[in-house]
Amino acid sequence: MFQRFRRTRLNKTLRSLTRETTLSVNDFIYPLFVRSGEGIKTEVSSMPGVYQMSIDVILEECVELKSLGMNAIILFGIPDVKDSIGSDALCDHGIIASCVRAIKKAHPDMFVVTDLCFCEYTDHGHCGIIDHKHETVDNDATLEISASQALVHAKAGADMIAPSGMMDGIIQTLREAFDNGGYPNLPIMSYSTKFASAYYGPFRDVAESTPSFGDRGSYQMDPANRREAVAESISDELQGADILMVKPALAYLDIVREIKDNTSLPLAVYNVSGEYAMLKLAGKHGLIDYERVVMETMMSFKRAGADIIISYHAKEVAKMLKN
Ligand code: PBG
Ligand code: ZN
Repeated sequence: MFQRFRRTRLNKTLRSLTRETTLSVNDFIYPLFVRSGEGIKTEVSSMPGVYQMSIDVILEECVELKSLGMNAIILFGIPDVKDSIGSDALCDHGIIASCVRAIKKAHPDMFVVTDLCFCEYTDHGHCGIIDHKHETVDNDATLEISASQALVHAKAGADMIAPSGMMDGIIQTLREAFDNGGYPNLPIMSYSTKFASAYYGPFRDVAESTPSFGDRGSYQMDPANRREAVAESISDELQGADILMVKPALAYLDIVREIKDNTSLPLAVYNVSGEYAMLKLAGKHGLIDYERVVMETMMSFKRAGADIIISYHAKEVAKMLKN
């Protein structure tokens, strides 16, 4: 049999015609952190380029994002007051509800995703109600208040809800709450495969949500487990999630591919705070070519099977894609 050893060298046009993976501004969701006040834009030391912003500043940010062709954001709230059950997240005038309402009023064309969890709103920093006897999160009690939080987001006008607490049964609970509450078409993006990861460190500085005791190991996944990682996402698919997710992204690309091949829903990756900080700081110190490394990293997520990338780099990527 004839076997040719030299590959034909393709010119630029052919290289782009045959490229297997592409990046577009439409692949991204940009995280924003909101807190109360006016004119507030506080940079977080562990994540240069990421800010806590007041609602008025977020409304300006949306103008800039739209000018870059980006309209999808995910919101995280930092409440004035934290308590044992995260009351701010359950109230129609809490920080997230207020922010969503303001954005949807000023920018109806923004697609607003809300992160649904309790760690940013509880004084103990865990993702739900604490079962004090066992020093862990009470799964079923947390499901109940999660449904309330989800309806608060829905009422405020959120376009998609993203539960990030990894409580068992959360997708079915939210699906039922939306069906019964008059939101049968509200999409749910599940943080379906979320590992107990040290890469979340900087986020907890921004969101001021470091647990005051213990860790999240009882409800987040063991990074050692591949089969369980796939099973968690399949379970959420069966419960009615619309989009699945792997988080963190970079150290888990094998999991991304495996879930992609074993489910049929769109798949998101969360390129988390620690991943962002590593590139940002290495870039700042001139150790890497920041822009090229960022683009290469984003491409690797798509190649691994991600349809959606949630990333703190998203705004910079949008600028790079524009040039
Ligand atoms: C809330 C939540 C976290 C992140 C997204 N949603 C923190 C956590 O689980 O500790 C982390 C995102 C990041 O590190 O960028 N549960
Ligand atoms: Zn949480």
